Amino acid sequence: MPPNRSLLLGVNIDHAATLRQARYRDEAHSCGGNVEPDPVLLAQLAERAGADGITVHLREDRRHIQPRDVERLRECVATRLNLEMACTSAMVKFALAIRPHAVCIVPENRAEVTTEGGLDVVGLGRRLAGVVSRLGDAGITVSLFIDPDPSQIERAAAIGAPFVELHTGAYANAYHELPRRAREFKRLYDGAEQAEAAGLMVNAGHGINYVNIAEVRTIPHLHELNIGHAILSRALFTGIEEAVREMKARMNPAG
Ligand code: PXP
Repeated sequence: MPPNRSLLLGVNIDHAATLRQARYRDEAHSCGGNVEPDPVLLAQLAERAGADGITVHLREDRRHIQPRDVERLRECVATRLNLEMACTSAMVKFALAIRPHAVCIVPENRAEVTTEGGLDVVGLGRRLAGVVSRLGDAGITVSLFIDPDPSQIERAAAIGAPFVELHTGAYANAYHELPRRAREFKRLYDGAEQAEAAGLMVNAGHGINYVNIAEVRTIPHLHELNIGHAILSRALFTGIEEAVREMKARMNPAG
């Protein structure tokens, strides 16, 4: 069943910075000025086309987004800025100084090309609970990026996180293998039901594209989708505004 309220779109703009860093990685001042492409300008255009929020991941290895980008985005983003970050004291300090509207805590592994699995909420235990409450006390909406795994969902609710973002990567990777895809879709469906019943708000992200969105949008209780690679790839051909408009139309088809 399709959702009965509009699904929100958070546009992840990390890969605008990936492209910039491919040329300017060794420059002292790679943010702003006339250095292209500027993720902040991209964010503003995405918002103009209907993005409900802008998401960036400030990785420890600084491979794409830089701290200065996040500072500039905090000043310019008119919708909501969602900062993806690892659960480290340095990142908590940074988030408390910048005060984005939302933080999504993700696992981070230097060798990965992109975030691979969900956070181990069970394993991180009390440390994560402390971070969730410190960020929450500062008025930041916290979400935990987790696999649709019953024990992780249960633990996320137990430590008081208001949101989870369900990892749709395994589903997206299985898209062309029907039995595996059906299994992964059921995990997401059941995970969303469990999360909602436990009082959690449900976001989703990773590997969502212009094709699989037709099925992803039927996962129950979804609030917001965070989508990056597909939108930025499409933008190379159509421009970011058309790429955002097209994704939003597919997320919330009329009628
Ligand atoms: N959500 C989270 C937590 C992520 O780490 C990422 C990738 O940076 C995304 C969503 C977006 O994934 P994609 O670029 O595949 O759309």
